[in-house]
Amino acid sequence: MEQRSKFTNKLGFVLAAAGSAVGLGNIWRFPYLAAKYGGGIFLLVYLILVVTFGFSLMIAEVAIGRKTGLSPIGAFQALNKRFRFIGILGSLIAFLILPYYSVIGGWVIKYFITYISGAHAAAAGEGFFNGFISSPVQPVLWQAVFVIATLAVILGGVQKGIERVSKILMPALVVLSILIAIYSMTIPGALGGVKYYLLPNFSKFSPTTVLAALGQMFYSMSLAMGIMITYGSYLRKEDDLEKAVGHIEWFDTGIAFLAGLMIVPAVYAMSGGDESALSAGPSLMFITLPGVFERMGLPAVIGSAFFILVLFAALTSAISLMEAVVSTICDQFKIKRHTAAILAAVLAILIGMPSALGFGPLAAVQIIGMSFLDFFDFITNSVLMPITALLTCIFVGYIIRPKCIADEVKLSSQFKREKLFIVMVKYIAPICIVAILVSSVLSAFKIITI
Ligand code: PHE
Repeated sequence: MEQRSKFTNKLGFVLAAAGSAVGLGNIWRFPYLAAKYGGGIFLLVYLILVVTFGFSLMIAEVAIGRKTGLSPIGAFQALNKRFRFIGILGSLIAFLILPYYSVIGGWVIKYFITYISGAHAAAAGEGFFNGFISSPVQPVLWQAVFVIATLAVILGGVQKGIERVSKILMPALVVLSILIAIYSMTIPGALGGVKYYLLPNFSKFSPTTVLAALGQMFYSMSLAMGIMITYGSYLRKEDDLEKAVGHIEWFDTGIAFLAGLMIVPAVYAMSGGDESALSAGPSLMFITLPGVFERMGLPAVIGSAFFILVLFAALTSAISLMEAVVSTICDQFKIKRHTAAILAAVLAILIGMPSALGFGPLAAVQIIGMSFLDFFDFITNSVLMPITALLTCIFVGYIIRPKCIADEVKLSSQFKREKLFIVMVKYIAPICIVAILVSSVLSAFKIITI
């Protein structure tokens, strides 16, 4: 077996893992969920989940990776043969996310091209977004471009380049987000939106809030898919694992928080305080922000910069998704990496088509009341990820035992949150996941309404 290359230092690991974590989930998905599910209360539930659940699962995955030095399937197998399937399940989730992730990635490319060609007024114009996503050709075309760009990186193996570029672009994303957030908050009428986003209103709390926050947390932190196992396998034994996980956790949550501040107050202000505008869903980023850029001045520059940074964040995440798929195809079917990568890309384009067309030609087709894109998003985030997370908790809590993880973490860290970790994986997480899973499936099939 090839010697595994290690990250040059902890920063390398943190950047690569953060590259996977920070993506459309933070900038596109988080704000619309926060807006839809009650603002402050969603934010609060989300934060609690990140520092308890999210932390415990992430540390478990990274430790499994570092302990075994293998990617997910091999790692689970090495620890216990019968649990190899958890690794396979994880890559199946990645396989289902990649196509629809690329659809949104394609939307981002379209916006970037529109801005860079100077057509900012058109992008901000009413009907631009709907015109675009309902077209029978464009969404498919741009989705394919996004997949091919991801494939090019995977094939070219320019991983090193990505590490280097991340060091510049990630901070740039943070700076630009702060500027836009500050601007958004100062738009006349935005204050109500800031309050809505920051102050929890407990009357808006419901099981759906927790479910949505939980799914978002798995998605945003790239958990339950074996991705963090793979990255953990590249981490050196002397690097402080707990601190590294802490950094990723905060970086990921920080960007999501900022994205919420960019979008929620602005929607609120622009709709004249109409709360129903806040539940617009997936389109929020593409409709609200162009309006904000128009008001900020220099819209062509700000819009181009913003969408290229989002595109970059999306690409680094898509790369980790495709990598998870490719490595599994290689292992399982014993085919060459190149062939596996091309196969994965072709399948992503094909499977993504219904999602890409789901707002235009296929708008009439609904699965359990959802568009294709929402359906894939629901199945992966609200069903398959909780199942995989549950299996991982059972595996860690009762098969290999938390001590096995704790020993690995303690090789290089104090493991301050050890007690929390043990209680989470053994008791709280499994119980909550089962409760949430059952309620989400029942509510999707309209057996209960929550
Ligand atoms: N975490 C990424 C994001 O927030 C998406 C992603 C999910 C990436 C799962 C890899 C695995 O956009």
